[in-house]
Amino acid sequence: VGVKQEPRTKKQETNNYWAQQVFVVGTGMTRFGELWGESVESMAKAAVEEALGEAKISVADIDALIVGNMLLPMLENRAHVARVVADAIGYTGPALAVEAACASGGMAVQQGVMFIRSGMGRNVLVVGVEKMTDADGATIARGLMGAGGEEEQLAGATFPALYALMHQAYQHTYKIDDEAMAGIAVMSHCHAASNPLAQFQKGITVEAVLKSPLVADPIRLLHCSPVSDGASALILSAEKTRTKKQDTNIEIVGSGLGGDTLALSKRKSLTSMKATKQALRQAELMAQGKLGIADKVEVVELHDCFSVAGYIALEDLGFCGVGEASKCLSNKSMPLINPSGGLKACGHPVGATGVKQVVAVARELRKGKKWGLTQNVGGTGATAVVHVLRNTSHEVRGAKYEEGI
Ligand code: COA
Repeated sequence: VGVKQEPRTKKQETNNYWAQQVFVVGTGMTRFGELWGESVESMAKAAVEEALGEAKISVADIDALIVGNMLLPMLENRAHVARVVADAIGYTGPALAVEAACASGGMAVQQGVMFIRSGMGRNVLVVGVEKMTDADGATIARGLMGAGGEEEQLAGATFPALYALMHQAYQHTYKIDDEAMAGIAVMSHCHAASNPLAQFQKGITVEAVLKSPLVADPIRLLHCSPVSDGASALILSAEKTRTKKQDTNIEIVGSGLGGDTLALSKRKSLTSMKATKQALRQAELMAQGKLGIADKVEVVELHDCFSVAGYIALEDLGFCGVGEASKCLSNKSMPLINPSGGLKACGHPVGATGVKQVVAVARELRKGKKWGLTQNVGGTGATAVVHVLRNTSHEVRGAKYEEGI
C-alpha cells in the first residue's frame, strides 16, 4: 500500500531514535459486531490496509508488528498469534503478541510506544483483533472468566457477576438510583448512532435500560458491552506525517501501566480502580511532567465494559469527584466521552478495544482538538493502560509544551 519511504540515512541508522517522539501516522478499523463472514486474518488485514494507506507506507517499511489478542489460543486452539497476523498481511519481520485480557490492545499500543522510544525502530504496526461470535455464549463466558481470580472462577463468577458486585457497592456507597446508573449507556448508544463502524447504531432510553433483561442482578443487558468481532490498527512512527496532504500531527505523549490483584475479592475498594490511577499518574508525568491532566483533555475513550466501570473510570481519571460521575455526565466542563460509542455500543472485541480507543481519539484530534486520553482495563481492574494523545500540528518539533516539562 502507498509509496516507499526514503531509505534511512547513515546518521539515522547509527544514532537511531532513542526517546523519540511517537506519532500516530495511520489508523484503521473494521466495523465491530457479528461479522460472520470474517476471520481473524481477514479483519486484521482490512484494518492494517486502511492504516498503511493513511500513513502512505507499505508493509516493507514496518520495523515491528505488535498484536493484542486474548482469545484466539483458547477459542480456536491457535497460538503464535503474532505470526498469524503477520502471515495475513504478508509481513515477515519481527512480531510479538501481548495478552492482558481486555487490556491486550492498550498493552500492545504501549509496547509499540516503547519500541519507538527505545530506538528499536521507526515504524511500528500495532494490531488489535478478536473473533468472538463464532463461539457459543457459555464458551465465551468461560473464556473471559479465565482473566479473573482462580477462586472467583471456581465460584462460577462471570464478568457480569463480578461487575454486578461493583455496581451494587457503587450504588450503595454513593446512593445512586437506577435511573442515574443508566445514563452512561444512553450516552454511549447516542454516540454510536452516528458511528457507521459501531455494533449498535441506535439510541436507547433510560427506560429501555431499566426494562432490559437482568444478566447478573443489578446489571441488565443494556448495562453490558456485547460480545463482538473486530480489528483495529495503528501505525506509530518516530517521524511525523511526511505527506503534505496530511498536515495533522497526532502524538502519543504519555503512556502508563497500572496493576492490582487478579481477584476482585482481594481489592481494597470495589468503587475505584488503583490500576487506573497508577496508569494515569505514569502517563501524566510522561506527557506533561506533572499531575492533573483532566482539565486539559477534550476527548476521552474509556473502558465502559459495564456502566459502573464507566463511572468509576471518570472518577479515577479525575474528570469528576468521587460518586459524582452520573451527575457530571452532561456538564460543560466534561470532555467528549466515548465518541465511538465506547465498549457499550461500539462493541468490545476484547483484544481490539485498546487499539480502537487510540484510533478513535486520534481521529477526533485530527478535527482540531488538542488533548485526548484513553483508558483500557483488563479483568475487573487487575491491569489498566492509559495513553495521553496530543495534537502537535502547530508546535515546533522539540519545543517545550507551554504547559509543562
Ligand atoms: N447491549 C445491547 N444489546 C445486546 C447486548 C448488549 N450488550 N448483547 C446482546 N444484545 C442484543 C443482541 O443484539 C440481540 O438482539 P436481537 O434479538 O435484536 O438480535 C439480543 O440482545 C440477544 O443477543 P444474544 O447474543 O443472544 O445475548 P446473550 O444473552 O447471549 O448475551 C450478554 C448478552 C450481556 C450476556 C453478553 O453480551 C455478554 O456476556 N456481555 C459481556 C461480555 C463481557 O463480559 N466482556 C468482558 C468485559 S470485562
